[in-house]
Amino acid sequence: MKIAVLSLFPEILRGFFETSIMARAVERGLLSYELVNVRDYATDKHRKCDDEVFGGGAGMLMQPGPLSRALEAAGVRASGGNGSEAKRIIYVTPSGRLFNQAMAADFSREEELVLVCGRYEGVDQRVIDRYVTDEVSIGDYVLSSGEIAALVLVDAVYRLVPGVISGESLLEESFSTGRGEAVVDGPALLEYPQYTRPANYDNLRVPEVLTSGHHANIARWRLRESLKKTLAYRPELLAAEGLPTELRRIIREIMTEGGDDEPHTENPGAADEGPGDRL
Ligand code: 6GU
Repeated sequence: MKIAVLSLFPEILRGFFETSIMARAVERGLLSYELVNVRDYATDKHRKCDDEVFGGGAGMLMQPGPLSRALEAAGVRASGGNGSEAKRIIYVTPSGRLFNQAMAADFSREEELVLVCGRYEGVDQRVIDRYVTDEVSIGDYVLSSGEIAALVLVDAVYRLVPGVISGESLLEESFSTGRGEAVVDGPALLEYPQYTRPANYDNLRVPEVLTSGHHANIARWRLRESLKKTLAYRPELLAAEGLPTELRRIIREIMTEGGDDEPHTENPGAADEGPGDRL
């Protein structure tokens, strides 16, 4: 995969691409990237890229000229509606479609992504109309510019590119199904609590089941904890039609357990290991 990011402040982006898992993926040839400074495509002596909004209103808008030239230089052509270009041109904006794991998976299957970061109030609509294939927002809050949002999107996408991280890690995390199925699409569950050494830290003990070596019990405990957490923080994720009967049964059980099962007890697993537990 190739990822190009167009920005007025590429230095915000560079550290991400040069660090850790991303750096390793680049080194291994799994992906390549290009950071394009839109200001390099300004033509006047002040390298001006923004101007006031026609019709009035606060703030400045990125002008169509520099951004269009930067896009063309990155190999992007106007979309004539014939789908001639395989790549996706993504404009990150709070007024876009809400980003989620399914979109990340969709983008991860592309050969090439081009991301456009807006500054100021955004970009001239004509650039969007001519070049952009996807307008994406990362959440219902406002950031001062698109760079951070672009990095969020890139991070969610590139790690799904085959080989970047292990398939096992992908299967088990939040927003996988929690049932050993594919990474995307619902009904997603939030990830269960995890622990590492020491087993007793300052008198806080790891749930016993996790050190028992009993894999089936561990799997049951984890599924149950995932469901508890999802019920507490994201109940709407469980509202989906077609939730498997087994999950529905465990959810009913959790809901009739009562309030004796606070999330931060010293041993959150204890309640699940009694003889009366039919799971
Ligand atoms: Cl993509 N950009 C900005 N500036 N703010 C946002 C956003 C994007 N998504 C949520 N808030």
